[in-house]
Amino acid sequence: MKKIFVPALACVTAYCTMMACNVNAQGGPKQEPLPKATTIAELAARYDSSKCMECHEEAHEEWEESLHARSILGTPRTAPTIITAIEKGLKKFPYSGVKDDSDITVEHLMICMKCHLPQLREATDDVAREIVATIRAWMKASREGDEDKAEELEETIASLNIGCMVCHNSMALIHKYVDGYPQRDTVYGTTEGEHDAEDFPKMAVAPALGEAILCGQCHGQGPNFELDHPSQCATLYSSYLFSYVAHGGSKTCQECHMKESGLGHNMQAYRDETMIEKALDISVEARSLFWRKNKKEGVLPLGVIDVSMYNKAGHAIPDG
Ligand code: HEC
Ligand code: HEC
Ligand code: HEC
Ligand code: HEC
Ligand code: HEC
Repeated sequence: MKKIFVPALACVTAYCTMMACNVNAQGGPKQEPLPKATTIAELAARYDSSKCMECHEEAHEEWEESLHARSILGTPRTAPTIITAIEKGLKKFPYSGVKDDSDITVEHLMICMKCHLPQLREATDDVAREIVATIRAWMKASREGDEDKAEELEETIASLNIGCMVCHNSMALIHKYVDGYPQRDTVYGTTEGEHDAEDFPKMAVAPALGEAILCGQCHGQGPNFELDHPSQCATLYSSYLFSYVAHGGSKTCQECHMKESGLGHNMQAYRDETMIEKALDISVEARSLFWRKNKKEGVLPLGVIDVSMYNKAGHAIPDG
């Protein structure tokens, strides 16, 4: 009896993972997309997180400190690297169709924006080119020491980011055949009901919000095979699944990065003291001695250093 029961149970679990077995999620049918945003300003306004600030002050303050709040500017290493990808990649690849900045389309930038700015899909190719031109102008102003201009352009670049509505709406529902497609009037969290905000009068459940898979959508498994030219940047989610979870690890990204760290929406890594402390157990044992090597070289001082390192993070570090 047991022999038959166990595989059957395993099967149900696998089925549930695929189907995300949830009846409370309130996605709905796929909606007609909004007309494409035609400028950076329009795309930024559509995803503007400051709309949520007055009522979710803490989440907003925390999020503002995170790299998600400047996901194409980065530390600020990301924006210049996007330009490098264009110059050393797209413009040199024989079949990319990019010889000049004016040839750049949304699809080309998706090799980076798939994760750094997924909502770029909702914009026209003009926006892709405006982003590239803005990054170039910002780099030039920084080089020339025009600080005011550089700061202004930096703000424009950072106005495009992984804001509240990316995680709580457009990427919140993962198994859409079961949970439905995110609806434009709804914020997705852990409760359902009415939501006190003008543009988003409803609140519904995103079954995977507290699960690692939410973050896995961007934190990478390896080459992005769905793209015409698979790119690879973050690969940490595969390490989480196939190393940490496969060896019995049971915490989610949210548990380590949002809860235990006490950082909430300010998800951080090695730039933060708390995360550094959580990263590694290091023990060093050292002893010194004298060793008689041979007649010619005589007695030599010798050091034996035994270093052991244990990675406590839920994945390989560093990533990328
Ligand atoms: C006028 C006030 C107001 C504004 C503006 C507002 N919210 Fe809310 N929101 C609330 C209240 C009140 C709740 C329910 C209580 C709670 O969880 O804080 C809530 C709940 C939520 C939840 C569900 C939390 C859970 O535990 O499930 C999410 C997600 C959320 N809001 C996201 C947003 C986002 C994103 C924005 C900006 C687009 C926003 N809210 C704007 C007042 C507001
Ligand atoms: C829409 C895509 C996306 C989602 C969803 C997402 N991230 Fe990120 N995350 C990014 C990108 C892109 C960066 C890096 C931005 C940069 O610096 O260029 C980042 C940066 C980070 C960092 C900082 C890394 C560093 O080097 O300091 C941490 C930590 C992090 N994310 C954790 C999470 C966790 C935990 C979740 C899920 C709750 C999550 N992320 C969900 C795309 C995403
Ligand atoms: C699979 C999703 C994904 C794709 C595609 C992707 N990135 Fe990333 N990238 C991330 C995430 C997540 C991080 C931060 C966490 C990490 O390093 O693990 C990151 C980090 C970075 C960093 C370091 C961040 C910093 O602020 O210092 C740079 C630079 C970067 N990406 C540039 C690019 C460029 C350029 C492209 C396109 C050629 C690209 N990425 C494509 C997800 C992605
Ligand atoms: C990178 C993804 C991501 C972004 C961006 C993000 N959230 Fe969240 N948020 C989460 C996750 C994951 C949880 C649930 C954490 C848990 O309890 O497991 C959450 C929880 C919440 C909750 C429930 C209560 C709480 O504070 O934990 C509210 C309200 C909320 N977010 C509002 C916001 C607002 C407002 C913004 C923008 C300023 C925002 N979130 C940006 C991922 C995100
Ligand atoms: C068991 C706790 C734990 C779990 C689970 C965990 N992390 Fe981490 N993570 C850490 C610690 C600690 C660090 C800091 C180490 C460092 O950055 O050197 C870190 C670092 C990172 C970094 C920076 C990587 C780099 O370049 O060094 C990113 C991005 C990140 N985590 C995202 C995630 C995501 C996404 C998940 C879920 C798929 C996740 N983490 C699961 C503890 C955890």
